[in-house]
Amino acid sequence: MSLTDKIIDVKKYFKNDCNLFKEEKIGLDYLRNKYLGRKGLINTIYSEFSKLPKDQKPQFGLEINNLKSNISEEIDDYMQKKHIKLSNAKNKDLTLPGQQYNVGSIHPITIIINEIKLIFEKIGFSIVYGPEVDTEYYNFEALNIPKHHPARDMQDTFYITDSTLLRTHTSASQIHHMKNNKPPIRVISPGKVYRNEDISVRSYCMFHQIEGLFVDEDVSFSDLKGTLEYFAKEFFGDNIKTRFRPSYFPFTEPSAEMDVYWGLDNESDHRITKGTGWLEILGCGMVNKKVFKSVGYNSNNISGFAFGLGIERIAMLKYGIDDIRLLYNGDVDFLRQFK
Ligand code: DAH
Repeated sequence: MSLTDKIIDVKKYFKNDCNLFKEEKIGLDYLRNKYLGRKGLINTIYSEFSKLPKDQKPQFGLEINNLKSNISEEIDDYMQKKHIKLSNAKNKDLTLPGQQYNVGSIHPITIIINEIKLIFEKIGFSIVYGPEVDTEYYNFEALNIPKHHPARDMQDTFYITDSTLLRTHTSASQIHHMKNNKPPIRVISPGKVYRNEDISVRSYCMFHQIEGLFVDEDVSFSDLKGTLEYFAKEFFGDNIKTRFRPSYFPFTEPSAEMDVYWGLDNESDHRITKGTGWLEILGCGMVNKKVFKSVGYNSNNISGFAFGLGIERIAMLKYGIDDIRLLYNGDVDFLRQFK
C-alpha cells in the first residue's frame, strides 16, 4: 500500500473515530493514543516517510505535517471541552461572592411549642405525646362527652371508621396518660388536632394545641391560676395582664378561660380582640370527677387541673400574622423570616 493510500486511510479512520468519540463509544485517551501516541498511526506514517526517496520527501512531509496538526487540533479541542466540563474553575471569577446555600428555618409553630415546653419544664412538667388517630372513647366518652352531647357538635370531627377519628383536641392525651400512670402527674402534651371546618383567615382543618395536666393530693383552683399566670408572664413578659372568665367544658368542673390583655393600640388589636383589648388564649378547669372515674382513679384522695392552649392563635399574636393559612401553604419566603 502506498503512503498516499495510507494517509487517506488514516484520515478516514480518524473521521470515523471522531464520530465514535462523540457518541461516547470510545474515550479521548484512546483516540489520542491511537493517532498521536508513541506507537500511534501518525508515527507509523512518519517512519515510512523516512524511508522515502529524497525527492518525494517535501511533498509528503507537507501532507503528513498537515494531517498531524489537523488531528492534534481536533483532539485538543475535545480535550479543552472536556476540561471545561470537568472543572469550570479556570473560567470562574474567583472574586465573585460565594454561592449561598438555603439553610432551613424553624417553623413558627415549632418555635412557640419549644418555648412553651421550656417554660413548663422549668416548673417540673414533663412532655408526653398522644396519638393523632384515636378512638371516640379517648377523644369524647372518657372526657365526659357522651354520644349526642352538644359538645361533639362544637368540634366537627373527621371520622376514619365509626369509632376511630382524628383527635379533635389534645385532651385525649390526658386519658392515655392517666390510664398508664398513677398520680402525682404533671405533664404537658403538645400536638396536632383536626377539625372538619371550612378553611379561612382564622381557621384551618388542622392546628396545634398543648394540653396541660396536673393531678395530685389537694390541687386547688389557685394552683391552676398560679401556674397559668406564671406561664403568661414567662411567655408574654412580666407586664402582661391576665383574667379568668367562667366557662364550660365537660371534662372540667369548674371551668374557665384565660384571656391576656393585648391592648387596643391599633386597628388590628381592635379586630382581633373584638374591641375589648382582651384575647382568649386557653381553656382550663379542675378535672371533672367523671374523668377520674373513667381512668380508674379514686377522686376522694386526689384532685387536679387541666388546660388546653391553642398554639396558632398565640403564634399569630406574637408574630403579627393575620392569616392562619400562611402557616401551612409552604411559602418559603414567609417561613424564612423565622430564624
Ligand atoms: N380541649 C379543649 C378544646 O379543644 C380545650 C381545653 C379546655 C382543654 C379546658 C382543657 C381544659 O384541658 O381543661 O377546646
